[in-house]
Amino acid sequence: MATMNDLQGKVAVVTGGAGGIGRAMGRRFGQEGMKVVLADVLAEPLDEATRALADDGIEALGVVADVTDYSSVESLAKEVLDRFGAVHVVCNNAGTGAVSEGYMWEHDLADWRWGIDVNVLGVIHGIKAFVPILLEQGEGHVVNTCSGNGGFAPIARGAMGGAATAVYPMTKAAVLCLTESLYTHLEMTGTRVRAHVLFPGGFLNTGIWESWRHRPTQYAATQERHTPDTTLEKVVDRFESAGVHIEFTPLETVADQVIDGIRADNFWMMGPPAPSDQVVSKKAASILARGEPDYLVDVLGKSAENTSESEGGKRR
Ligand SMILES: NC(=O)c1ccc[n+]([C@@H]2O[C@H](COP(=O)([O-])OP(=O)(O)OC[C@H]3O[C@@H](n4cnc5c(N)ncnc54)[C@H](O)[C@@H]3O)[C@@H](O)[C@H]2O)c1
Repeated sequence: MATMNDLQGKVAVVTGGAGGIGRAMGRRFGQEGMKVVLADVLAEPLDEATRALADDGIEALGVVADVTDYSSVESLAKEVLDRFGAVHVVCNNAGTGAVSEGYMWEHDLADWRWGIDVNVLGVIHGIKAFVPILLEQGEGHVVNTCSGNGGFAPIARGAMGGAATAVYPMTKAAVLCLTESLYTHLEMTGTRVRAHVLFPGGFLNTGIWESWRHRPTQYAATQERHTPDTTLEKVVDRFESAGVHIEFTPLETVADQVIDGIRADNFWMMGPPAPSDQVVSKKAASILARGEPDYLVDVLGKSAENTSESEGGKRR
């Protein structure tokens, strides 16, 4: 099956394009000679990111769009077609991070709704609005941003010393599942439109750690918070005090992974083999053996056996 190798002059849309990984992908697409549409719910950083691309001679359009709202994503698709007449690469990348505290039965329902609406429904909206356009064109790529945290297995013991959010990994498990269905459904139609799932690897310096800073009013907390909100600085401190030195993976590396994955037509957009791959092998072994879920690790990559005491948890 032929893939879209020549990206020059093609059109890429990136949701969550105002910052972090999305912004880096937008720049990388532009460097390939693509026309770039950055979409984000945050108008100011979006404007700044779009201008930065234009300043570098990249044909760029910024569209304020909320992926939780289907009519907003439909309008985004319309605006892209009005401006560029086509769409070739759609990155459903907008995401929100770990804002919940406590054990999962204590999480605020507003956190569940926010996480599901952005990370899951947002991807569904992107698929619904854009895939028919790609099918009509007969070529294109859909790249859904997943995470090893959920995509492989949940990291349920957090960097801050307690339970980590159950919301985020659940949504990322859903993203993998959705993308597997998308891959199959596209294949069934005989189209050249392809689906990919992106696993950004390593430790990334992005806004996701501090999503609470931009909590939308429709997902306002309904419970009083008992612990301070997470910051990237605090997470890094915790790692360093546990003897783990943090080196951030450049966001350009993730963007390269996307370009390489499109060119090679890889469903799995992943970096080189990493320690987290062991979670995948151990999980498969656990399922096949009908065994205990011994592949579950904490944020430092240690299994429950090693962390139960230090985290104050109890094993069954
Ligand atoms: N940073 C990591 O370590 C990491 C690892 C694996 C996967 N991811 C995933 O990568 C993607 C990008 O996250 P990031 O790390 O660059 O974080 P980020 O916070 O820097 O970027 C996410 C962007 O999504 C936007 N966004 C949030 N809600 C939105 C909405 N309703 N509509 C439109 N845009 C919205 C935000 O404004 C922000 O610009 C996310 O899906 C995230 O889950 C991140």
